[in-house]
Amino acid sequence: MNFQTYNPPKRILMGPGPSNINPRVLNALAKPTIGHLDPQFIVLMDEIKQLLKYAFQTENDVTFPVSAPGSTGMETCLVNLIEPGEKVIVCVNGVFGGRMKDIVERCSGIPIVVSEDWGKAINPEKFEAALSENTDAKITAFVHAETSTGALSDVKTLAEISRKHGCLTIVDTVTSLGGSELKIDEWELDAVYSGTQKCLSCPPGLSPVTFSDKAIHKIKNRKTKVQSWFMDLNLVLGYWGSGSKRSYHHTAPINSLYGLHEALLILHEEGIENSWKRHLENGNIFCNEIEKIGLSPFVKKEERLSQLISVTVPEKADETGVRTNLLKNYNIEIGAGLGALAGKVWRVGLMGHTSNINNINLCVNALSKELSS
Ligand SMILES: Cc1ncc(COP(=O)(O)O)c(C=O)c1O
Repeated sequence: MNFQTYNPPKRILMGPGPSNINPRVLNALAKPTIGHLDPQFIVLMDEIKQLLKYAFQTENDVTFPVSAPGSTGMETCLVNLIEPGEKVIVCVNGVFGGRMKDIVERCSGIPIVVSEDWGKAINPEKFEAALSENTDAKITAFVHAETSTGALSDVKTLAEISRKHGCLTIVDTVTSLGGSELKIDEWELDAVYSGTQKCLSCPPGLSPVTFSDKAIHKIKNRKTKVQSWFMDLNLVLGYWGSGSKRSYHHTAPINSLYGLHEALLILHEEGIENSWKRHLENGNIFCNEIEKIGLSPFVKKEERLSQLISVTVPEKADETGVRTNLLKNYNIEIGAGLGALAGKVWRVGLMGHTSNINNINLCVNALSKELSS
């Protein structure tokens, strides 16, 4: 066989992630690799931690990127906080809440599920009722931005209710970090994970996490060992913790971290509030524009994400055909519905570097042409 260097096509990534990568990040990824214990690399690690604290709006000491995708951030939070036999109130309004429940079971925890229809935010009253009925639960878990449906839950209120009932919170911010208002310290969230391939516009494969002092206290006082060696914070922090002495835990993905540093720098330059505002404004523009061509957003406005919009597929439209043609004829990737929403919605991402007027126009025009042909 005649193998050749791989040259990927240039796509406009308007699906549920990854989003398009800023050329500055791509350049950073191509810089020369150095050792993961090189003193110069430690300097970079410390800057990444500072920049992540800014992105998360936190002063938490334990804030760093796990060397693996968002799902590993999810497992890191759950396996460290949950001990066998502990009850966890888990909210499920889409695919990712469902995954949290699965992991709770794998940690030998007892999930108490608060379910909501797909496409809706978690209902704070139902959530509080579950807490009142399960006073022995000490942990709650929920998704801020449910990428599988496009619904945004009110994390601030859910965290307030959790605190009132003496629970620690585990929060999925994979799609919200950088794209929706998120204030870890002000909202007093305890164990939070995210991903790099959504509103940070980095390649996938890293999962920023942050833990409050309360969460770290629980982890340090566990009666049982964390069942995962790789994700055990007590061990990882020997490498990512503070102080000048860092010991080998695993070989960090050095070049990916160059990329994350640059992406966080770009976010810092834009300003976190400006980034939230840009996502919100572009989400609103997109929804207005699709309404003009006879389409409608699946999620009601008050509970709708701006960076991931589920669009109801019109009755006579060919759901797969439209997506395929968008890719083939316009180089635009949009996502299909998942699970209960398969065939019913398209998922359009306006995340990070992808979230701009030009892409909105290209996508709406392409949808309009494909739907009328
Ligand atoms: C809300 C949410 N949580 C978790 C994940 C899992 O992240 P990853 O695919 O990087 O493992 C995703 C990925 O799309 C997500 O959207």
